Amino acid sequence: MNLILLGPPGAGKGTQSRRLSDKLKIPQISTGDLLRAARTAKTPLGLQAESYMTSGKLVPDDLVVSMIRERMQQPDCRKGYILDGFPRTVGQAEALEKMLIVSQSGMDHVVNLFVAEEELVKRLSGRRQCRKCGENFHTSFLPSRKDGFCDRCGGELFQRDDDREEVIRNRLSVYGKQTAPLIEYYRKQGLLREIRGVGTVDEIFETMLKVVSG
Ligand code: AP5
Repeated sequence: MNLILLGPPGAGKGTQSRRLSDKLKIPQISTGDLLRAARTAKTPLGLQAESYMTSGKLVPDDLVVSMIRERMQQPDCRKGYILDGFPRTVGQAEALEKMLIVSQSGMDHVVNLFVAEEELVKRLSGRRQCRKCGENFHTSFLPSRKDGFCDRCGGELFQRDDDREEVIRNRLSVYGKQTAPLIEYYRKQGLLREIRGVGTVDEIFETMLKVVSG
């Protein structure tokens, strides 16, 4: 099964796609995680992406598209994948369509998670992420059992440098201008499934499983 998770920063794409990946046994491909790893490793891509990411802007399409093309050619994607945070512009969506034609495959569902803006700001400003496995926690909504450490792998938790309030507002504005048009784009293709991303993580996950199995 091939899936796209759409939604604004903080909607829960990472949280839900990790669970879906465990359940469906297909990889979660997060362009944000791939870019953060490239930054940490100081690869040419990571160095080019750095300033865009810290200010909350999108990394240019050509860089992201070649990164994702390479990732989707890995053997673990043969049975399907969950795209988390890609595509993010109409240009990226068109590039993805071309990749799907070349690989003679298609997209099964595009799930859009919608959440009100003030809730998104609260979620992002309290988010803590595991350095080792990438699992997300929240200081109030989803605290880890041991303060500062991941429940899943014991790794250290950190706060992302783009989770500061002024950068969060910029990311939300970039989302509205550059990514939200994809909702209509995929609705016209009959692929869009909409889920309200409010409630417990488990409740949303259950709805999501029903939607993608339907
Ligand atoms: P990326 O890492 O993709 O960030 P994002 O899209 O801004 O999404 P987030 O990871 O912030 O949010 P999420 O929806 O995954 O929510 P999460 O599950 O973590 O991108 C970062 C940057 O990389 C971009 O700004 C850009 O520069 C660059 N980039 C990435 N992809 C790109 C692309 N395709 N093109 C160009 N540039 C790209 O949840 C958030 C918080 O809420 C967590 O604390 C979580 O615990 C909590 N939470 C989750 N669910 C719930 C719930 N139901 N109730 C209460 N709290 C909840």
